[in-house]
Amino acid sequence: MKNDTIWVVDFGGQYNQLIARRVREASVYAEIVPFEKVMGRLDGSGDLPKGIIFTGGPSSVYEPGAPSLPLRLYELGIPVLGICYGAQLMAHTLGGRVVSPDFKEYGRVAIATAEAAKGPSPESRLFSGIADPGHCWMSHTDYIEEVPPGFVVTSRTDHCPTASMEDSARGLYGVQFHPEVHHTPFGQELLVNFLYKVCGCTGDWTMENFVRDKVEEIRAAVGDRKVLCALSGGVDSSVAAVLTHRAIGDRLTCFFVDHGLLRKDEGDQVMEVYGRRFQMKIHRVNAAERFLSALAGVEEPEQKRKIIGAEFIAVFEEEARLLSEEEGGIDFLLQGTIYPDVVESGGGGGAAAVIKSHHNVGGLPDTMKMTLLEPLRTLFKDEVRAVGEELGIAPELVWRQPFPGPGLAIRCLGAVTEEKLALIRESDAILREEIDAYNEGLFARTGKRNYGAGYGGDSTERAVWQYFTVLPNIRSVGVMGDARTYDYAIGVRAVTSVDGMTSDWARLPYEVLETIANRIVNEVDGVNRVLYDLTSKPPGTIEWE
Ligand code: XMP
Repeated sequence: MKNDTIWVVDFGGQYNQLIARRVREASVYAEIVPFEKVMGRLDGSGDLPKGIIFTGGPSSVYEPGAPSLPLRLYELGIPVLGICYGAQLMAHTLGGRVVSPDFKEYGRVAIATAEAAKGPSPESRLFSGIADPGHCWMSHTDYIEEVPPGFVVTSRTDHCPTASMEDSARGLYGVQFHPEVHHTPFGQELLVNFLYKVCGCTGDWTMENFVRDKVEEIRAAVGDRKVLCALSGGVDSSVAAVLTHRAIGDRLTCFFVDHGLLRKDEGDQVMEVYGRRFQMKIHRVNAAERFLSALAGVEEPEQKRKIIGAEFIAVFEEEARLLSEEEGGIDFLLQGTIYPDVVESGGGGGAAAVIKSHHNVGGLPDTMKMTLLEPLRTLFKDEVRAVGEELGIAPELVWRQPFPGPGLAIRCLGAVTEEKLALIRESDAILREEIDAYNEGLFARTGKRNYGAGYGGDSTERAVWQYFTVLPNIRSVGVMGDARTYDYAIGVRAVTSVDGMTSDWARLPYEVLETIANRIVNEVDGVNRVLYDLTSKPPGTIEWE
């Protein structure tokens, strides 16, 4: 089944993915299309979108080489909503006037519909139910001074004569503000109006439909052949595996590499949940000794990462070959690639595809010809989590905080030893227990969890994204009972973040910090001091190595 689709045309703005996510939150499938590819796709043989949204972008329409689209696009009968630069481009192309005023609007700005301001008052479908919008979020230098022929102004601010405009007969809309950000309180309602009232979308993008369609698709693609998956226990590979297992059952073979750098009980948990409860065929590869001996004596952080990466590829290749032989040949390799890994961006000097290599899979040996199966390729992270819940994966796994591929090795400063890893594992387990308990208490009191990646989502709320302990590799003097101690210090790192790109240290309640520190010193032999990391990113990074 083909979903209603909205194209989010990328002009290089910073909110492109956010716009696509907002559309999807409204149960409509959106995909990001670089502006250079739009006309080719409209003229091609593929399905046409139900509507098009132009994003903002850093350019001015008058700049030489500024991104643009031809007049023809507006004559196809496909509704278009231009946002910020997108609106200016629409006005410029269709005969309006865009200018660079002295006054630049940035931030939260009062806005009134033209109706309220006694201007021209169309029955705007875009503003339907939003008589008094209040405030919006602006971030622009240029603005539309004169709307093109056929358009009317539908809202304005003190400084911006055209906060929005429309030609409803042609289905063309432009907004100078950013409806996609939370600071525009009526923004989602406006987007919903565009999707449903203007474009006639049906709201068929739900995770229930996704699972149903994907299961059929995987069955059809795989037929009676076999699929291999390197399961890491992380959200993406786990959801991909459970989904594929639902489609083809035991024709999916998974292997789980335990490199000995996992958190306490993590390996057992993966086997218990996916092997026993979901009844998936999983081979556990106990490679701890191999990784530890490769790491022996190595102190330099980058070198540690490289060794772990190389070792992972070696284990992956060996295991893939072995299992393929055992199974009499495997045709597909399942990967948990998600949309932000593959999305192409527009502007910024051409349509270069930005594709990150998946950190868990080193690539295939040349001699093994497997086809990639990437069922989550179209999903954002929050959608992957929703699919996980739909498939019955427990919330604590679906909302798991990120865990780096190189594992505890990059939280163990200097050379990695089993003795030091044990200190990290034990202290980290205590930290997680205490924060999880606090989170559950918070949930009981307020109905909201705020600790763990994704809780609080992409909102501006200060959701705690990640929390873990590190071993800074220093020892200090303490006193326990009546005896002098000379033991390790443990660092506690807890950060708030939206996407891991920037972060701040989490303002954990003192009582929680107190309990954590007391328990770590009392329960973890070999630790006599606990430090709390007060560094934001930048200048720090979230991990210590
Ligand atoms: P940094 O330390 O760069 O981390 O501020 C940002 C986020 O990325 C995670 N991280 C990794 N994830 N492989 C991963 O899959 C890695 O090598 C890796 N290094 C850091 C980190 O935990 C944080 O969430």
